[in-house]
Amino acid sequence: MAETAKLVVGSEQVELPLFVGTEGERAIDISRLRSDSGLVTLDEGYVNTGSTRSAITFLDGERGILRYRGYPIETLCANCDFVEVCYLLIYGELPTRDQLEAFRASICRHTMLHEDVRQFYNGFPSDAHPMGILASVVAALSTFYQDSLDPHNPRHVEVSIHRLLAKLPTIAAYSHKKSVGQPFIYPQNERSYCDNFLQMMFAVPCEPYESDPDFVHALNLLLICHADHEQNCSTSTVRMVGSADANLFACVAAGISALWGPLHGGANEAVVNMLERIRDDSGNVQKYVNMAKDRNGGFRLMGFGHRVYKNFDPRAKIIEAECRKLLSKMSIRDPLFEIAQQLEDVALNDDYFVERKLYPNVDFYSGVIYRAIGIPVPMFTVLFAMGRLPGWIAHWVEMHELSNKRIYRPRQVYTGPTEREFVPVNQRG
Ligand code: CMC
Repeated sequence: MAETAKLVVGSEQVELPLFVGTEGERAIDISRLRSDSGLVTLDEGYVNTGSTRSAITFLDGERGILRYRGYPIETLCANCDFVEVCYLLIYGELPTRDQLEAFRASICRHTMLHEDVRQFYNGFPSDAHPMGILASVVAALSTFYQDSLDPHNPRHVEVSIHRLLAKLPTIAAYSHKKSVGQPFIYPQNERSYCDNFLQMMFAVPCEPYESDPDFVHALNLLLICHADHEQNCSTSTVRMVGSADANLFACVAAGISALWGPLHGGANEAVVNMLERIRDDSGNVQKYVNMAKDRNGGFRLMGFGHRVYKNFDPRAKIIEAECRKLLSKMSIRDPLFEIAQQLEDVALNDDYFVERKLYPNVDFYSGVIYRAIGIPVPMFTVLFAMGRLPGWIAHWVEMHELSNKRIYRPRQVYTGPTEREFVPVNQRG
């Protein structure tokens, strides 16, 4: 007989089914709780709420495990490029050689933006944050591709997926060119995904441009590390908006906006700002650790802590190793990297951080690599968005394939005034 959970409330007992995942996670299915008992659950910040079943990413925060479609993140970083991981996440299996070639070729064919999209960039102020531009331009793509917006039409979905994957780097690089007043550089489709992005970022029309292969490698690795992280804030946003049957461009634009927040993807930018602040304050690491421990001070060590990881974030380990390798190969001595390592040492030996299981997360070292590549700080979260895009898409597709897909509509527990008598404005004191 299937195992159940029993909930006793006063004299009433409610029996609830248990759902067990493939990694042995046990969840109490409360979807019928209200209709059977009148009770709702309360879980502010969704700390312990499984919003869906999902077969895309497994993570075990206690053991520091992260796997996409069953493959450990370490294995994927060592053996794949980002495009191959996109295929894996979206279609569920590693591609054959032919499938991968066809996928790459299709993405290459969609890299250009409609020429009218370029005009949008003239409307933004020159100091516009590139995440604002990214969200706006991605949302605007829905107005250019009105022929393929139906989330229930597999052909529409497929072409929108390829367009988004292909065009996001172009949109991102144009926002950088706009901010530095340089001409936009068209994509070159014979280049690989990351190489092409770097040339759109850094080439100028008057000179030939070759990307550094080490930068291409590091960028692939960073994008893979960011590619999915199950039901995080931006992915849940994409699924939430998608549950209303909004088109894929609108959903991804919403995900980009969620990612922008400094508690989420915006943390990589905040980390570098914090490391610069410490450097300019005579490198006094202990002072900032003490500030972070003062619960009334409102200061946090950015790049530390995670809702799910209560052990080392495996992505942080991979990125730190790449950071060390890249900086030593390029003979760069970056004081921010040194401060980051000192901060990590001090924090990991401090009771406050040990007790709360606060470790460096994915954003802690990524900014140091971006700096070495020459990517400006406001573009860091844009890079995170480029990495997270296949995850958003995979979740959007998975949600639409659920046999019991319904619009996301959480309950609440109302705490406002009970019914009151209306007083006309001229009688209010
Ligand atoms: N520095 C100092 N104290 C911290 C930190 C930090 N970075 N993070 C958590 N704490 C403390 C917090 O004050 C609380 O202490 P207490 O129990 O005494 O009240 C305890 O640790 C638990 O923190 P929480 O805020 O309840 O944990 P959460 O799961 O709600 O938040 C987090 C997770 C990632 C938002 C948080 O750790 C944080 O703000 N970190 C800094 C921002 C950051 O690096 N974000 C990137 C996350 S990883 C990439 C991504 O998701 O995009």
